[in-house]
Amino acid sequence: MIGILLLVSAVTLVYVYLKWNFSYWDRKGFPSAGATIPFGVLDSVTKGKRSFGMAISDLYNSTKGSIVGMYITLRPALLIRDAQLAHDVLVKDFSSFHDRGVYVDEENDPISTGLFSLEGASWRALRTKLSPSFTSGKLKAMFETSDAVGDKLVAHLNTLLPQSGSKVVEIKELFATYAVDIIASTIFGLDVDSFANPNNEFVDISKKFNRNTFTDKVRGATLLLYPGLEKAFVRLGWKQEATEAMRELSSRTIDLREKNNIVRKDMLQLLLQLRNQGKISTDDSVWTAEHSKQGVKNMSKDHIAAQLFVFYGAGFETTSATASFTLFELSQNPEVMAKAKEDVREAIERNGGKLNYDAVQDMKYLEACVLETARKYPALPILNRVCTQDYPVPDSKLVIQKGTPIVISLIGMQRDAENFPDPLSYQPERYLDGNQDYNRAAFLPFGDGPRVCIGARMGKVNVKLALAKVLTHFNVEISPEKREIEFSPHGLTLVAEGGVPIRISRKQ
Ligand code: HEM
Repeated sequence: MIGILLLVSAVTLVYVYLKWNFSYWDRKGFPSAGATIPFGVLDSVTKGKRSFGMAISDLYNSTKGSIVGMYITLRPALLIRDAQLAHDVLVKDFSSFHDRGVYVDEENDPISTGLFSLEGASWRALRTKLSPSFTSGKLKAMFETSDAVGDKLVAHLNTLLPQSGSKVVEIKELFATYAVDIIASTIFGLDVDSFANPNNEFVDISKKFNRNTFTDKVRGATLLLYPGLEKAFVRLGWKQEATEAMRELSSRTIDLREKNNIVRKDMLQLLLQLRNQGKISTDDSVWTAEHSKQGVKNMSKDHIAAQLFVFYGAGFETTSATASFTLFELSQNPEVMAKAKEDVREAIERNGGKLNYDAVQDMKYLEACVLETARKYPALPILNRVCTQDYPVPDSKLVIQKGTPIVISLIGMQRDAENFPDPLSYQPERYLDGNQDYNRAAFLPFGDGPRVCIGARMGKVNVKLALAKVLTHFNVEISPEKREIEFSPHGLTLVAEGGVPIRISRKQ
């Protein structure tokens, strides 16, 4: 009898708690969407039907107004629907939203201190120190390495295609191999050739990151949504295999480079400058990283690994997805394809017949294609922040409380006809001089404000290089049927379900 009574009381308590929790936004006076208990907006994610980004986009599309209360599982969060308010959060009122609110433990877990997760003054200091690594001059110096990877992409495609006639190639997988090699070489300073040797150590680690196992999903969720719980997991010693493997690989590479005084033109080299000299040289021709006289290390090996790790995480999937979605759209739009090919040809011609860094920078139409892809298919479909001090919403009586997670749906906003006329049509012309027919505040594929993507320029160069290589060496056939890409229900980035098949032939 007592047992039944206890059970009934427990169920009643849970019910009352859930009711109370899921009435948070009503109590605060914010408009909100009806919540599905207990997962809220993540209901379709837990059922394996939608990815996180698409679930948020569904909420964007099914609601109105500038701000909507939602529940990410039990956690009340706000979806910003209005482009101007999003701009305020990211740029104008950055001081009230300077952190992402994801897991970071500066004291006990240095590998968690990547630029993406760091907060407040620590983030600001590191961002300032890292910025000289991404200048045009540094990227130009690294271009040779990327170019060599591009050549391997071409050579590999040649092995796949018949002498005459065409073949359907899953281009996403190919661009993923390209992106892995670009990151391995230009960021980690490793000589891997994943086209010839698809089972190298770097690819193995990369696969560990993208396994989608139950454990990975739990850790992914705690990392982003329940940082306190993630902190507890880490302190209890629950290690993540991929992180550990990446940490070990970075440490080995740093040792090798420091012991042998190897100087290479890559991100690791610049981080070693920071470690040994306290700053990254603003002189783009200086790549040495000798120790300072006292031998003081300004950055531990784990802190370096944390940055390499975050550059990998932020650069790999975004680069390969943006390149493959662009080629897909070119194969769907013959006029855009013709203009892109002509643009690539002319830029190479203007630069002495070479596909070098300046030629890539000179490809203005291809750049517009990449921007239009990043609009229609934002590789990271959401932006997130946490409110860092109580914030009165402009022109309303609402106050966002400190600690509230904020989400901006890029795919929702960038496919909204209110912001971009005819949003599903692919129009690179939108970004060409004088044509701007869209709401500038709603165009956020690389984010905005002080925490805007630090690697945007690098990402664009590598995407354009891959596309220019393919367009110069092969014929990409126009697809006979018009279609829209379906998105996979897995992953944090926007992933095409079933890959991106494209029909390609050799140039005769
Ligand atoms: C096409 C390629 C890329 C896309 C679409 C992209 C997109 C983004 C977006 C949307 C954000 C969030 C910005 C915000 O919250 O306001 C971001 C942040 C970031 N990205 Fe990228 N990214 C790309 C390439 C890269 C590359 C190649 C790197 C590094 C090598 C990189 C490193 C980062 C870092 C470190 C941050 C966090 C910056 C901070 O918090 O200070 N990204 N990226």
